[in-house]
Amino acid sequence: MTKPKIAPSILSADFNNLGNEIQMLNESEADFIHCDVMDGVFVPNISFGMPIVEHVNKVAKKPLDVHLMIVNPDKYIEAFAKAGAAWLTVHYETCQHLHRTVSEIKKNGMKASVCLNPHTPVFLLEEIISELDMVLLMSVNPGFGGQKFIPNTYKKVKQLKKLIQENNPNCLIEVDGGVNYQTGKELIEAGADVLVAGSFVFGSENPQETIHNLRNS
Ligand code: DX5
Ligand code: ZN
Repeated sequence: MTKPKIAPSILSADFNNLGNEIQMLNESEADFIHCDVMDGVFVPNISFGMPIVEHVNKVAKKPLDVHLMIVNPDKYIEAFAKAGAAWLTVHYETCQHLHRTVSEIKKNGMKASVCLNPHTPVFLLEEIISELDMVLLMSVNPGFGGQKFIPNTYKKVKQLKKLIQENNPNCLIEVDGGVNYQTGKELIEAGADVLVAGSFVFGSENPQETIHNLRNS
């Protein structure tokens, strides 16, 4: 089995010490740095926006994987490209003209990814999957770190894998929420390529070792 890519979510990092946390990730086996942008409207929490992403990007040596949990993401595509996002994820549930949004993300030089909430079925991506670089499946309801993994996600990963194999084999499957060694292993077996992990990495005694173990388990 190929090794998964690991995307630690800085939502669970020490914000008083963010520069050092990013340095720590630079020296780890992390493949991406996952930035959770929340607006208090689409999700019941507010995190951070472009200025923080821009500062993270100044220190980061890994590509920024920016997850937008905001309404009207189209308004901010260019701003996040300028802030340094390499990958930009928008929620299916927030986009009325998803094809246009995905095209705009690519036009701004970023990889395009679409996220599905736990209740949103995979088949809704059938007509857009060939345009995508990645699909992000939420395995918790978005808004907070440290929540319990929703097991129905395994089924969705398998359905998505099938859709991807038939239409766009290079498209990655990323899973976000409640990832630990056990859920991570089962997600990889189901077909996931990228694991987001927040509290499991930053809450551990040795985050670099946890990233290593997640990658190699
Ligand atoms: C949740 C965020 C996640 C979150 C994951 O809305 O999108 O990226 O940081 O946190 P854990 O890994 O603690 O579930
Ligand atoms: Zn996220």
